[in-house]
Amino acid sequence: MTMNKVIGHRGLAGEAPENTLASISQAARQGLSWIEVDVTLLGDGTTVLFHDRRLNRTTNHTGRLKSLTHTKLTTIDAGSWFSAQFAGEPIPELGTALSLIKDLGLGLNLELKTNGCHEGRLVDAVLKALGKTDLSREQLRISSFNHRALVCFSTHSQLPVAHLFDRLPLNWRRKAERTGAVAIHLNAAKVSQKQILKVRSAGYELYCYTVNSQSFARNLIDNGVNGVFSDYPLEGLYPMDLKLIRGGK
Ligand code: G3P
Ligand code: MG
Repeated sequence: MTMNKVIGHRGLAGEAPENTLASISQAARQGLSWIEVDVTLLGDGTTVLFHDRRLNRTTNHTGRLKSLTHTKLTTIDAGSWFSAQFAGEPIPELGTALSLIKDLGLGLNLELKTNGCHEGRLVDAVLKALGKTDLSREQLRISSFNHRALVCFSTHSQLPVAHLFDRLPLNWRRKAERTGAVAIHLNAAKVSQKQILKVRSAGYELYCYTVNSQSFARNLIDNGVNGVFSDYPLEGLYPMDLKLIRGGK
């Protein structure tokens, strides 16, 4: 089961504040069928969508995300930094995001961001949240830069996993075999044609992040990459990827 050629990055981070419900809805509105979001833990173990270790860049607060607890979540504005239009947009809990994703009929690449938290704790919490949703196996893919997190996840779940790397390391295949991964996700700015061939001919899918230019995306895909993570819908690049009815949900 492959994802799409264009996968909304952090929801659709170019058009709405990243890793928010607004960003997920915007991806669906723009006709995308798959999105990627980052999941991590608050200090009290609550699973939330968030990219950074600190609140500074994408909220109206400062300090470490880990210092937050569930009850403080509603006091954080994760939308105003992007635009006044999104003022008051909360940091979403994973469960709420999963319900929305299910309602919108999207596929989800959930990236495990350990960001200093214990891998096992994150995996347990994510599995618990996934267990409460009825998203199908075909709609889900779990990825991480953290090998231990993926090993832990694949030990406890049959869901498809993908290894994220900045650059393809020499031991990538051993790592992928250890987790039974279906795909490799690489930094588009650092991938070579030789690496594309190596990964694809070994039978793995290959996706690249983060590609905001249509011509770059087309070039990668023409050279064997399955798809790209993008902050924008890259409309018109591969119309077959887009849902036929736009703006319906
Ligand atoms: O999963 C692809 C991409 O999101 C990985 O990098 O830093 O945007 O989470 P980052
Ligand atoms: Mg990510």
